[in-house]
Amino acid sequence: MTRLGILISGRGSNMLALAEAIRDGRIPNTEIAIVVSDKANAPGIERAKELGIKTQIVERRRRSREDHDRETLKVLKSHQVDFVCLAGYMRVLSAYFLEEFRDRILNIHPSLLPAFPGLNAQLQAIEHGVKWTGCTVHFVDETLDGGPIIAQRAIPVTEDDTEESLSARILEQEHQLYPDAVAFVVSGKYELAGRRVLRKP
Ligand code: GRF
Repeated sequence: MTRLGILISGRGSNMLALAEAIRDGRIPNTEIAIVVSDKANAPGIERAKELGIKTQIVERRRRSREDHDRETLKVLKSHQVDFVCLAGYMRVLSAYFLEEFRDRILNIHPSLLPAFPGLNAQLQAIEHGVKWTGCTVHFVDETLDGGPIIAQRAIPVTEDDTEESLSARILEQEHQLYPDAVAFVVSGKYELAGRRVLRKP
């Protein structure tokens, strides 16, 4: 069994999409070991509990990034986590955290990276005037939303799109893409060649 640790800060809809995919066998031989939130009031925590998934809150509490990460790591390790999935986790990870889970941290971002990293990616896409945007699952490294790309999905931007309408259509795609990408990674059928994630037969 591959054990996932999922980090959230809010709604947790991608976390739920992963939980459903595991339940349906779309991510085989995998379980969610723990869902950790840095926010005590993250709605996703309640939703995880309803599904019987273990949860833990690790709040920032005026500590340094590294001290906070140390506690989060302790929780992940005590639950024997193999891969860490960021799902709307609104904190940048310290070098210390990245080192502990090198090439084993995934993130989902609501744009076709490397376009529009950072916050409000959907609004950035509308304001830039791109005709296509989408979502990306990537490995996390020390750059902001810049690690090796695992999978992407594209969708058109329409002239009457608002930030809300576009975000909703991207989110639908996220809920399919993230489980697919996690299934691919836990299958182990890939290799990292520099920045490239290559499929192995
Ligand atoms: C998603 O749009 C994801 O791409 C971004 O943050 C949002 C999280 O949504 N990283 P949710 O908490 O999974 O519903």
